[in-house]
Amino acid sequence: MARPSWDEEMRAAAIATLDSGQWVKGARGAAFGLAFANHCGALGAAPCQNGSSALWAALRIAEIGPGDEVIVPSFTFISSTTCVLLVGAKPVFVDIEPEYYCLDIEQVRQAITPRTKAVIGVHLFGQVYDSELVELCQKENIVLIEDAAQAHGATQEFQDGSIRTAGAMGDIGCFSFFPSKNMAVGGEGGMLTTIQPRFQDRIVGITNHGRSPDLEAIQLGSNLRMSEVSAAIGLSQLSHLDDWVALRRQNAEQYTNALTNHPSLNAPKVRPGSQHAWHQYCIQTSEPDKFVTFLDERDIDARRYYTVPCHRQHVYSKHPQFTTTLAETEKASSSLVAIPVMHGLTFSERQRIVEALIEYD
Ligand SMILES: Cc1ncc(COP(=O)(O)O)c(C=O)c1O
Repeated sequence: MARPSWDEEMRAAAIATLDSGQWVKGARGAAFGLAFANHCGALGAAPCQNGSSALWAALRIAEIGPGDEVIVPSFTFISSTTCVLLVGAKPVFVDIEPEYYCLDIEQVRQAITPRTKAVIGVHLFGQVYDSELVELCQKENIVLIEDAAQAHGATQEFQDGSIRTAGAMGDIGCFSFFPSKNMAVGGEGGMLTTIQPRFQDRIVGITNHGRSPDLEAIQLGSNLRMSEVSAAIGLSQLSHLDDWVALRRQNAEQYTNALTNHPSLNAPKVRPGSQHAWHQYCIQTSEPDKFVTFLDERDIDARRYYTVPCHRQHVYSKHPQFTTTLAETEKASSSLVAIPVMHGLTFSERQRIVEALIEYD
């Protein structure tokens, strides 16, 4: 399902960093933050330890804590929602759209109360959330935290005609560089981004014990800094991101063509006006286990996503929504199978997958 890229340029960048003796708090981290902010059109960006700590930090920066509610999807990776518990606030789970698996705007609207302080919108599988979510949060004065852990390079056209990239579609963006993601850093890693001047210094400060440039601790933070070696590898990987996402799009297009009029498999849909980043290519089928076994027999990796929605996981057993039925969430969790769509797929690997899709009935 995943094969991180590693080449001579990345190896040289890592070794040069180690040789320099500057292993933490150096120019590479600062350069990676700047380059990443430029890539997504954000005002600023701060490298950090992983996507989960970025989400925790985003909630802290937005000053969310006990007594506050945060609207989240349940059909997502667990840390998109447990970050809310970690700051002592209450996650409020809402359902997803049937076609794109992102937050359903109408359901978000209905879930807003005077205690709602933030929404965590997830660009699931690399498909961006509805741009109406941005407008809704602005209108309601709610902080929009963008979980872009799966969406490096995704874009969306907004109603004013502007095209925005993931990381610049909310107030604070959170990325992961886990090795399976669209780009990586040679270990664990994450990035905070913001388009808001009021958060620009804080995203950097929170990763460094909440300290200001003169070392006064002005907010509660921790050591969330990325190592210089990871930042050097990340800088090199970032220079390939657009090409890699383009390859993912080509792979996805071939699969979608192969699935046209398929008797039992439905290709994922792409939101009009958006460019999918294809972190995962998830096929919808009424018999997901049968499909996974079929692929497994042909030595093709496949994985079901996310079979137990977040609000049904044990950590939420005392949450008031633990037994709530979220119809579209349940449907997605019982029918989606991801197949390899990574940029490093070879021609013959992709052919083998396409042939298997056509053969399956
Ligand atoms: C949607 C989503 N959010 C958050 C995360 C957390 O990122 P990390 O694993 O880097 O902590 C992930 C990672 O898998 C993810 O897929």
